[in-house]
Amino acid sequence: MTRALPDPESLLADAPLVWAALQTAGWSAAALDELLGATARTHLDRDELAPLLRRTDGGSALEVLARLFVLGTGVDLKQARRAGVPESWLVPDGFDVAAAVRLQPVVHGGVEVLVAHDPGRAASGVHPDQVLGVGAASLTLAAATPRAHVGRTLDLGAGSGIQALLAEDHSDVVVATDTNPRAAAYTRLSAALGGRDVQARTGSLLEPVQGEAYDLVVSNPPFVIGPGSGYTYRDGGMDGDELCRRLVAELPAVLAPDGHAVLLANWLHVAGEDGDARVQSWFGPDVDGWVVQRELAAPEDYVTAWLRDTDEGPRFDALYEAWLDWFALRDVEAVAFGVLALRPGTGRVHLDDAPQPVAPSWGEEVPAFFARQEALDRGVLATAWRLRDDVRLHQVAARSDEGWIAQTQVLQQEAGLRWSGAVDVYGATLLAGCDGSRRLGELLSVLASSAGISEADAAEQVVPVVERLVQQGFLVP
Ligand SMILES: C[S@@+](CC[C@H](N)C(=O)[O-])C[C@H]1O[C@@H](n2cnc3c(N)ncnc32)[C@H](O)[C@@H]1O
Repeated sequence: MTRALPDPESLLADAPLVWAALQTAGWSAAALDELLGATARTHLDRDELAPLLRRTDGGSALEVLARLFVLGTGVDLKQARRAGVPESWLVPDGFDVAAAVRLQPVVHGGVEVLVAHDPGRAASGVHPDQVLGVGAASLTLAAATPRAHVGRTLDLGAGSGIQALLAEDHSDVVVATDTNPRAAAYTRLSAALGGRDVQARTGSLLEPVQGEAYDLVVSNPPFVIGPGSGYTYRDGGMDGDELCRRLVAELPAVLAPDGHAVLLANWLHVAGEDGDARVQSWFGPDVDGWVVQRELAAPEDYVTAWLRDTDEGPRFDALYEAWLDWFALRDVEAVAFGVLALRPGTGRVHLDDAPQPVAPSWGEEVPAFFARQEALDRGVLATAWRLRDDVRLHQVAARSDEGWIAQTQVLQQEAGLRWSGAVDVYGATLLAGCDGSRRLGELLSVLASSAGISEADAAEQVVPVVERLVQQGFLVP
């Protein structure tokens, strides 16, 4: 379905008036949560407006603004005026007026931003150039983004600007790029609304930032793989997983010497080819890479999920068949989804299969992962490892005549990627001794003599386990 889209550029001039109106009404993510209730997002996603209309029928300025910018329903022109909304931001809606755009407050890691985007959502039919609000993938990338302060950040494929706006909080300069000029306009609008400083540019891939260097690059590109449906926000217009491959290959050109890039990607698992090796081969010899694979979907499940996302209704069957035929032609056995991280390096790429629930914010693991790799290079036995502060040991014990006997012991991270894994009594004892004060080699000699085995035998058994524990971040240098 196509419909006329608003012109976000034309709204920029009056953005300060709208911002003032929002402030006066007490607009914030918390205030809207309280007004609309915890289930508001679910109601909105299902077009169930009645519960939200009942909660906003008092006529206060915040209720009027919520109806206009969150629910997307019409209000009386006088009410809109009283709430301070300039007419340039209103469109006729029967006898009422409606807002030209939607405003979505987003809180991540204690930072609140306001995202302006087009009305409508994927599941109600979208225009090819529609700029959508914040979705699950947006939040996945936000969670994987390192939040240490940096000089320059690039958000490639910025859409509504959510990643750029969040990065503005911890960057001196933020540049947001997108092929869709409407996306650049929305990024400017969102930045103006929240008083944030973001440079928005239009252009494909790295074209708008040639010759520049960034300390942080984030990208939620249009990674969906399929025959192409004309949705700019999700179809990159290149065959298969080519767009993601090109991004990984080209991004290093704009990475500062200590820079990191984090992007979302899909990649194919094709018959007769190793899918892990395929994504690993995307990284050039001048970078180190970390692939955090979060999902591996069968073609049927992948296609169903994306067709449901755009609520194709009666077109579902035909599109499903065409998409699966397209996969079959290319011998696609599965599609992987993950977070790819890279930094300048020497061509070493590590892949983790990490389908487990992760912390709501785990971006600090990106630089930490590469720092641990460097420590491993310096020598596993020569390093004084420290058990990460958030690691807990869960024991299941059974009663016996000697009292409680531990039957299983599981290490669990409470932060980061929240890895967990079984550990035996010796391993648990060794880890308890890892307080960063003694090198692993010293700890091993103590362990070997108490177990009555040679240090060489102890090292043979322990070193591979410790290396794995370091890779996963249980132990840190
Ligand atoms: C999945 S959306 C991501 C939006 C936003 N960054 C987020 O995280 O929600 C992908 C964006 O990439 C843009 N895009 C598509 N092809 C592109 C290209 N070749 N170069 C740069 N951006 C592109 C689309 O217009 C869309 O805004």
